[in-house]
Amino acid sequence: MFCSTAKRVQRLLQFRHTLRFTGLCGKASCSRLVLGIETSCDDTGAAVMDETGAILGESLHSQKEVHLRTGGIIPAVAQQLHRENIDRVVQEALERSGVTPGQLSAVATTVMPGLALSLGIGLEFSRKFVRQHNKPFIPIHHMEAHALTVRMLQPVAFPFLVLLVSGGHSLLAVARGVDDFLLLGYTLDEAPGETLDKVARRLSLIKHPQCSRLSGGQAIELLAKDGDKGRFPFRTPMGQAYDCCFSFAGLRTQITNTIVKKEAEEGVEQGTLLSCANDIAAATQHTVACHLAKRTHRAIVFCMANSLLPSRNPTLVVSGGVASNQYIRKALSIITKMTGLHLVCPPAKFCTDNGVMIAWNGVERLREGKGILPPDVDVRYEPKAPLGVDISAEVRAAAIRLPSVWMKIHN
Ligand code: KG4
Ligand code: ZN
Repeated sequence: MFCSTAKRVQRLLQFRHTLRFTGLCGKASCSRLVLGIETSCDDTGAAVMDETGAILGESLHSQKEVHLRTGGIIPAVAQQLHRENIDRVVQEALERSGVTPGQLSAVATTVMPGLALSLGIGLEFSRKFVRQHNKPFIPIHHMEAHALTVRMLQPVAFPFLVLLVSGGHSLLAVARGVDDFLLLGYTLDEAPGETLDKVARRLSLIKHPQCSRLSGGQAIELLAKDGDKGRFPFRTPMGQAYDCCFSFAGLRTQITNTIVKKEAEEGVEQGTLLSCANDIAAATQHTVACHLAKRTHRAIVFCMANSLLPSRNPTLVVSGGVASNQYIRKALSIITKMTGLHLVCPPAKFCTDNGVMIAWNGVERLREGKGILPPDVDVRYEPKAPLGVDISAEVRAAAIRLPSVWMKIHN
């Protein structure tokens, strides 16, 4: 009994020492090193980063092609692929960085939100790793990581407004600090990336020679370049709801009905590439862009009215997989220009899931000493986890009416 208590005390002292002093040369002045691990959805990612945000080594295994072939993510398949790849991916990131596990100051891993089976693999691996090497553990919220990634690339001070749009999420929040968010709005049904993926699948874009290896969102963006968005005037969702929430399921029904009608007109079976696929892609992308822009516009007006953003250089950060879409960025830039906000989007590589953004989130938390746990603490994963304090009811109550904006977006 005494022996195990003594051991625990010794481990704790060692842990505190690691927290304060671990660096490549073992001195306090040295930059601390964080290993980041991401497995929340269909990417197995790892990266080693120093405290300045320099990426020392990274590795990413994408399951995209497997899921494209099966027509969507099957959680058990995603889990198996994470299981098969996590050792190699982490090993690769470490080898490329030239850092040994002993030199790490902490391990940061996504534990929420995401697919339960996928999160479980990253967490299980990390728990073993931190125990084996006696390293502090930093559990990471996947959306917090998307929101903070931009700060790794350029100085963006808190508070800022953030729009996060991906395959699993759609939300607007005010980032007030590393672990301090006000949630203004979120999706009531599906996420925009999910909508784009499902529309692309319904259009069988995987059969298109230029799209066979692209995600649904990438395929829609590519085809939309040569499409006529005016040919199918889809209704922008939630025109009568004066809040910052999103909804994409109704839009998808409109699009599916149009596809069914066109298949009948062209006399082709479901699964055939339609001749008007480019136009449907362009109209879909345009409507998604307008919906995101309108909700973001209302969020900006709400933040200004409630002094939630600084009067000097207020910033909108856009991130998540869908944020790599150039057309959507242009739509948002119309709104930010009009309202005087500075629009910042990380490059596409850092918008989609990767280990780097998790390592960076770990660095941000390490610097501030927030959420750093000893190696033997029992951490659970959370498939559903809202980001920050939900003030969407206040936003709804404000019922802000927006002036109409001409969304003239060029491809
Ligand atoms: O952030 P992410 O890598 O994973 C999630 O956390 O969901 O985002 C993946 C999503 C997919 O739905 C994909 O279709 C979408 O981002 N996406 C895009 C583009 N590239 C990826 N959507 C629109 N345009 C793109 N260029
Ligand atoms: Zn993501």
